[in-house]
Amino acid sequence: MNEKRGFSFMENVSFAPYTPPTDLPVLKVSANAALRIRRARVDDIPRLYHLINYYAARGDMLPKTLDLLYNRVREFHVAEAGGEVVGCAALKITWHDLAEIVSVVIHPDFQGRGLGRHLIEPLFDEARDLGIPTLFVLTLQVGFFSRLGFREVPRLRLPHKIWQDCSMCFKRDRCDEIAMVRDM
Ligand SMILES: CC(C)(COP(=O)(O)OP(=O)(O)OC[C@H]1O[C@@H](n2cnc3c(N)ncnc32)[C@H](O)[C@@H]1OP(=O)(O)O)[C@@H](O)C(=O)NCCC(=O)NCCS
Repeated sequence: MNEKRGFSFMENVSFAPYTPPTDLPVLKVSANAALRIRRARVDDIPRLYHLINYYAARGDMLPKTLDLLYNRVREFHVAEAGGEVVGCAALKITWHDLAEIVSVVIHPDFQGRGLGRHLIEPLFDEARDLGIPTLFVLTLQVGFFSRLGFREVPRLRLPHKIWQDCSMCFKRDRCDEIAMVRDM
């Protein structure tokens, strides 16, 4: 019997230890390229993985695995500059009355130009269409989310269920993120 039967697709897979990205993606696009927001596609995922895990390694957000990003590609919107993906954000449904804004990143070359706002505002419409009355975010970017209508709340006001993701974070019980909510 062929022992490899059914597993031949694994032959070229190497299981090197994971090292988070230490540099941001180098963009080929010019600073004045045309900008647009669109839903993510599967071929965007390697770029999203790079951007998100770069900031996650600095403690700014939770890391994401490739398989999780592929599983959740339909939750993501991306910002594109001249055809290149320079940012992302996603809406993650928690419960019947609550959803979270996650994985919000804009490449530094394109920060401060309204792209973060333009990525997140369509997620508000999506939440309303889904009938979700409240959004929350856990963040160190209080100023940015305040401008988008979020207000600070005590973290323990949020349901216990939301802390499941903390097992993926190196901060664990030393979390320094601020909880913020926004009514839809
Ligand atoms: C936070 C981040 C997504 C903001 O994106 P951005 O495209 O630079 O933000 P925008 O230009 O759309 O700013 C929207 C508004 O927020 C304000 N703002 C943005 N960053 C801010 C900050 N750090 N402090 C205070 N206000 C801020 C802007 O002045 C703007 O206000 P206005 O629309 O009323 O004029 C971006 O800085 C980033 O990717 N940071 C690193 C990753 C990160 O920390 N993500 C958050 C994880 S929860």
